[in-house]
Parts: sequence; C-alpha cells; structure tokens
Amino acid sequence: MSIEFRLMEVSDIPASIELWKSMKGLAIRGSDNIRDLTDHVNMNPKHNFVASSDGQLIGTVLGGFDGRRGYIYHLAVHESFRRKNIAKELMDKCFQSFKEINVSKCHMMVLKDNTEAQEFYKQIGCELRTELLVFSKTL
Ligand SMILES: CC(C)(COP(=O)(O)OP(=O)(O)OC[C@H]1O[C@@H](n2cnc3c(N)ncnc32)[C@H](O)[C@@H]1OP(=O)(O)O)[C@@H](O)C(=O)NCCC(=O)NCCS
Repeated sequence: MSIEFRLMEVSDIPASIELWKSMKGLAIRGSDNIRDLTDHVNMNPKHNFVASSDGQLIGTVLGGFDGRRGYIYHLAVHESFRRKNIAKELMDKCFQSFKEINVSKCHMMVLKDNTEAQEFYKQIGCELRTELLVFSKTL
C-alpha cells in the first residue's frame, strides 16, 4: 500500500469534508464549509496537508498561522488506515512548514473525551497544558 503526502489544494476540500463527517472525534462546525475552508487554504497555502491512497483522500491536517503561533485543526485519518503513522507524517509535515517560517510553538485543541487523539499527541511529543482554559467568542 503506498500513501502519498502532499499540500492540500482547494479542490481537496469537498473530499476532506466527507472524510471529517464520517468520523468521531472531530468537532465539525458551521465554518467547515467550502467558502470558509477555501479562505483558510488560500491564507495558509503551505500549512495544510493531505494523505491519499490510490487517489482516495484518506488523511488531512489543517495548519494556520496567526502571525505569532501555529494552530492545528482537523487532523484526521480514515479508520481503515489508522496506526500506520499517517497522522504522525501529516503532523511532521505541518510542523516542518511552521519551522520554515520560524514559528516556535503551535497549539492544538482536543475534545475532552477524545482520548485517542490525546494519546496520539502525547506520543508525538506534545505537552498537555493543564493550566490553560480556552475561551471563545462568536463574532
Ligand atoms: C488521532 C488520529 C488522527 C491518529 O491517526 P493515526 O494515523 O492512526 O496515528 P499514527 O499511526 O500516526 O499514530 C502514531 C502513534 O500515536 C499513538 N496513537 C495513535 N492512535 C492511538 C490510539 N487510538 N490509542 C493510543 N495511541 C494512539 C501510538 O503510539 C501510535 O504509534 P503506534 O501505532 O506505533 O503505537 C486518528 O485516530 C483519527 O483520525 N481520529 C479521529 C479524528 C480525531 O480525533 N482527530 C484529532 C482531532 S483533535
């Protein structure tokens, strides 16, 4: 089985949304629509990656840079392709893309009950920030 990794293109967005809808663990929001995701990819063209197998999109990660920190969204691997280091490779590519523009830290938010993703992030060397809470405001 050969897995191809490459930058996400705007044309990958519909298949990415379908992948995300098929799985637990991701919080799909109103902003996960083609227009908003197109804006994200166009604003962060070097930080979003996909994995594919035989032309089928089977993994994604979205990276965003706000001028200070990197943010990771929608890391996802199709259930049939898990535990093959595909997420690790997607994250390595995203981290590398941040390092290339001198980003020194990036953050990822995980749902409290998503223990699989928590184990994954611990395994790849991410630190759980128990001293922080996240506040959000809808605009
Ligand atoms: C979390 C997720 C992206 C991991 O994808 P993956 O490709 O299977 O992960 P990898 O194969 O790269 O895992 C690397 C290491 O992380 C750890 N890990 C990954 N998934 C794990 C799990 N379910 N339980 C425990 N450890 C896990 C393991 O140590 C693994 O190495 P190993 O398989 O040699 O033991 C995948 O389970 C997924 O898509 N989940 C649903 C969406 C989601 O929750 N996304 C994160 C949103 S914050």
